[in-house]
Amino acid sequence: MIDFHSHILSSVDDGSKSMEESSEMISMLLSQGVDTVVATPHFYADDESLDDFLSRRDAAYESLISSLTFSHPRILRGAEVSYYSGLSRLDELSRLCIEGTDLLLIEMPVCKWTEYSVREIESIALSGAVRVVLAHIERYYHLQKAQTWDRLMQCGVLMQVNASFFIRRSSRGKAVSLLRRNRIHLLGSDCHNLSHRPPRMGEAYKIIAKKTGESFTKDFIRRQRALLGDD
Ligand SMILES: [Fe+2]
Repeated sequence: MIDFHSHILSSVDDGSKSMEESSEMISMLLSQGVDTVVATPHFYADDESLDDFLSRRDAAYESLISSLTFSHPRILRGAEVSYYSGLSRLDELSRLCIEGTDLLLIEMPVCKWTEYSVREIESIALSGAVRVVLAHIERYYHLQKAQTWDRLMQCGVLMQVNASFFIRRSSRGKAVSLLRRNRIHLLGSDCHNLSHRPPRMGEAYKIIAKKTGESFTKDFIRRQRALLGDD
């Protein structure tokens, strides 16, 4: 299985604080059956340039890879891009995509979105330069009209949710219903540490398999692999 959203790189954002913590998080993901992890540190265009962010991220990635002493899952570089008004004008948005793909993970604000921001996401999606993935949509799903989600999906926008959406009893029903209706396309742990936001992909997949059946779950995993260009 693939973890599409994680903060496993050490000391680049509010995720892992040390190489030991990163290593332990990766080892937990491995034991849960994850073979590919996308490292998606936060990118805030207000705080730093794209070049500075990418060089910090790449340095953290290189240090992590050279420090891991066990046979670890494939780690792909990506970013969790914080949406701001004008994001579509950022040059070279594609440099923020998940390595080897055109998938761009965008984190939207937790509020009702303006018509301007919905149109801007649509225009990025329709530009053909990148494929938009909205991060942890469960945080703002209920704040938008149903038509907004329909519009975005018609533009090919993909939806990512966190493992906790399935694990939390209060949201499990909603999560399963959205998944069954093909309104969830990618799953991520959004793990930040070993304490209050640890990786919990295994638990989420157990629930998915129990609620939707083995063949649906396998197909969900297969469709995610296809997004990475895997067989
Ligand atoms: Fe995140």
